Parts: sequence; C-alpha cells; structure tokens
Amino acid sequence: MTPPSPRPILVTGSAGFIGANFVLDWLRERSAPVVSLDKLTYAGNRANLASLDGDARHAFVQGDIGDQDLVEKLLTTHKPAAIVNFAAESHVDRSIHSPEDFIQTNVVGTLRLLQAARVYTENLNDADKSAFRFLHVSTDEVYGSLSPDDPAFTETNQTLPNSPYAASKAASDHLVRAYHHTYGLQVLTTNCSNNYGPYQFPEKLIPLMITNALTGKALPIYGDGLNVRDWLYVGDHCSAIRRVLDAGRIGETYNIGGCNEIKNIDIVHILCDILDRLKPAGRSYRKQITFVKDRPGHDRRYAINAHKIESELGWKPTETFATGIEKTVRWYLDNLDWIASVTSGAYRQWVKTNYEQGIRA
Ligand code: NAD
Ligand code: TYD
Repeated sequence: MTPPSPRPILVTGSAGFIGANFVLDWLRERSAPVVSLDKLTYAGNRANLASLDGDARHAFVQGDIGDQDLVEKLLTTHKPAAIVNFAAESHVDRSIHSPEDFIQTNVVGTLRLLQAARVYTENLNDADKSAFRFLHVSTDEVYGSLSPDDPAFTETNQTLPNSPYAASKAASDHLVRAYHHTYGLQVLTTNCSNNYGPYQFPEKLIPLMITNALTGKALPIYGDGLNVRDWLYVGDHCSAIRRVLDAGRIGETYNIGGCNEIKNIDIVHILCDILDRLKPAGRSYRKQITFVKDRPGHDRRYAINAHKIESELGWKPTETFATGIEKTVRWYLDNLDWIASVTSGAYRQWVKTNYEQGIRA
C-alpha cells in the first residue's frame, strides 16, 4: 500500500526574496507540496519560482493575504498542515515614504491571514488542529537599535521599533501572539537578522551595491557608513524556519542570526574587492563609493543572540560570511538578466499581461 501523501504547506510572499528561497529549498528537502500565495508587488517576481513550473508539488496563486475570502478558500481546498507567512512590505526606506502600505499588508493583512487560519482550524478535527502550525516570519528590527556595547537582542528584549516598517512588523508579531493566547491558534514566530543571497530585490544594501557597481553608478552609503547589521545567508534562514516548524514550542518566539556583525562600509568594501577579482573594470569599484545624507531615524546597530534556537532546537548556520557573500556575488554575476528584468519594469508588464484574469495556478 502506498503511504498517504503529506499535506501541503501554504507559503505567503513566496515570490519575494526569502519566500522564493524557502520554497525552492523546501521542495529540495521535503516531500510535502507547497501552495504559494503572493500578491506580486514590485518586490515579488514570479520568475523566482520558474524552475518549479511543471512540478506537480507546487501551485502558485496570485493574491493578497488581506483577502480573507480567498485565503479561506485556499485553506479549505488544499487543507495545509501549516502556513508560513513571509508576505510583507519589507523595505525601511519605502516605509519612510509610504507607511500606509506597510500597515495595510503587515498589520491588516496579517490580521486577516490569522483570522482565516482561525476559521480553518476551528473546523479541523482535534488531531489536525493541534498539528497545525502558523509560522510568522519577523525581523530583529522590532527590538530597536543597540549601542556599541549593548548585548545582542534576545527573545525577551522589549519591542522598541523605530521605523514604520519595524513598527508594522512588531504590530503583526503582537497579533500573532494574541491569536495564540485568545483563540488557541498554534503559532510560532521567528525574528531574524538581515539576510543576503540570491533573488534579493536590488533596493536592499547588498544587491543594490552589486548592481550599481556593475552599471557604473554611485555606491550610496548613508551617513558615516558605521551602522552595523548582523548578516545571515538566506539558506540558513530557510533551514532555521524548517527547524522551528518541526520542533519549535507552540507560542514561542525564536531569534535567528549568524553572529556576523559588520559595518555597512565594510560590507561595501568586501563587495568591491570581490567584484574587482571576479569582474575587473580597470579601476577599483571602491572609487564609486559616495557618502550620502543619512536615512531618517537610521538604527545604529542590530545584533542577534541565537542561543535559544541553537540550544533548544540544535540549529546552526552552515555558511560563514566569507562563503555566503562569495556565492551571492557569483549568483548576481551569473544572473544579470534577472537584475535587468526586475529593475526595468518589463517584468511588471509581463505580470499585467499574464495575470489579467486574477488568480492563476
Ligand atoms: P520581499 O520584499 O523580497 O518579498 C515580500 C513578498 O511579499 C513579495 O513577493 C511581495 O509580492 C509579497 N507581498 C507583499 N504584500 C503582499 C500581500 N498583501 N499579500 C501577498 N503577498 C504580498 O521581502 P523579503 O526580504 O523576502 O522578506 C520576507 C519576510 O521576511 C518579511 O516578512 C520580512 O519582514 C522578513 N524578514 C526579512 C529580512 C531581510 O533581511 N530581508 C530579515 C528578517 C525578516
Ligand atoms: P537595508 O538593506 O535597507 O536593510 P535594513 O535597513 O532593513 O537593515 O540596509 C542595510 C543597511 O545599509 C542600513 O544600515 C542602511 C544601509 N544602506 C546604505 O547605506 N545605502 C543604501 O543604498 C541602502 C539601500 C542601505
């Protein structure tokens, strides 16, 4: 007798940077199918999942996490064992210019997703209900900014968000917690540090610097360039989420990070040096570095203490910053057409033409 096929998982925000990496990794590592839900904003790129076209274990649906009817329909149709929520507006600079979009998706959208999950799980039998997981992917930015000598963020740090992005993510984290305490939804929350790797939209520091370097543009460093971020290779973030999904304690929060605190100026120097070696341009890419006006309210330092996930769940990152950043730069060099398509607007026209009918599997 063939064993019953495993129940799928629903992954939201799956056409974005981390969501796409997660879905690709998941289908390499696991047998359970994936239902992808993504609104395909400017940051979502259907082509990130193109290698899965024709794979019966993957279904893609274009839609909004804030569309509760759609989500409920997806849940009753596919009966997933878990929801992994990556969908978000994610760029701090955009949140400074257009905070409302962040409240709409990150707060209202997460609320509606939680509500759909609640309705769905209330109709499950007891075993399926207690096996169900709602894993909410969040950020270290909810904890605020550290001074140089402060200890790294732990899960018990107060939330002190400073940007509209961080405030909207903190609000969503609180809603997830409330749905557990009030309605008994089986939730897990992860708060991760800055990610880097393939498929990151070139508005974030690392892909922006690579793209600008290669196109002869300025490499704009905000303020004095001494702000610190704690960098984790995206594949390590994905393995941490799988581990939390498998063994995390319900209602708990897990910090994820790689213990890689680096100043922005040092990141840009490293990128220039790798590009000088892999794609020499006659003069160092460092010459393109320009210091520009600082970001308003710019957080000085983030650092993650990942002791809880390491000791409780046995997770550890596999990449060092040196190996991860080399892989990343090579990926962008090998995928110049990807950069061109996500930045040119051609991709958005393609989406308009191909998705006029709305939902399409
Ligand atoms: P991203 O901006 O690259 O991707 C976000 C995806 O969500 C896009 O595909 C977009 O189309 C989709 N989306 C946006 N609004 C939606 C909506 N209303 N309904 C459905 N889909 C929608 O972001 P990312 O960097 O991949 O981040 C994914 C998640 O991880 C976010 O929740 C973010 O807060 C969190 N996170 C990111 C980092 C990082 O360094 N990038 C670090 C820690 C946590
Ligand atoms: P970013 O990638 O936007 O991530 P976050 O703000 O969520 O940490 O920025 C990372 C760091 O790089 C942050 O300190 C801001 C800085 N930065 C620049 O100096 N120049 C840039 O052009 C960008 C996009 C970011």
